Amino acid sequence: MRIVFIGPPGAGKGTQAERIIAKYRLAHLSTGDMLRAARDAKTKIGIQAETYMAAGHLVPDDVIIGIVAERIEDADCHGGYLLDGFPRTIAQAEALDAMLNEIKTPLDVVLELRVPDEELYRRLSGRGRADDKPEVIRERLVAYYNQTSPLLDYYGKKGLVQVIEGLGTVDEIFERIETVLDK
Ligand code: AP5
Ligand code: MG
Repeated sequence: MRIVFIGPPGAGKGTQAERIIAKYRLAHLSTGDMLRAARDAKTKIGIQAETYMAAGHLVPDDVIIGIVAERIEDADCHGGYLLDGFPRTIAQAEALDAMLNEIKTPLDVVLELRVPDEELYRRLSGRGRADDKPEVIRERLVAYYNQTSPLLDYYGKKGLVQVIEGLGTVDEIFERIETVLDK
């Protein structure tokens, strides 16, 4: 199964991704995790990305597309994967389509995890990652609504989007996801 996971910052993508990849035996491709690892290892890409991440802005498309294009060809992705936090712009979605068309492996489903803003602030304020300061959360939300949410229409037109209500316990939300994926 090839899945794209879309949702605002703090919606619980990472939390649910852990369960989804365990049950459905998928590779977990989180561009946020990849960038944080690169930042901590002080690689060229990591140092470049740090400024954008700290401000709550998206890292430039060419950087991200390069990272994913390399990772998606790894052997562990052959059995399926969950893309968590990618694509986040129309340009990234088009680049992904081009990659997948070339190897004839289309996406199966796009999960939209829906959570209201007040709850996102509540969840992120209680976590304390470097980009979880209120003013940075605000910027991340602006980036989501301006640059990422248009993807719901992009994938909606292809008939791929399934909406998951993201309020409730982690177990309840996972059950909703299972209902969609088991179909
Ligand atoms: P990224 O790492 O993707 O961060 P994000 O989208 O802001 O999302 P988070 O990881 O904060 O939230 P999540 O939805 O995974 O929620 P989580 O499960 O952690 O991106 C970070 C940055 O990297 C971006 O700002 C950008 O700069 C850059 N970047 C990454 N990808 C990029 C791309 N494709 N293009 C350009 N730039 C890119 O949960 C959040 C909290 O809520 C946790 O504390 C959790 O325990 C709690 N929680 C989870 N579920 C529940 C629940 N049901 N009830 C109560 N609490 C819950
Ligand atoms: Mg995450």
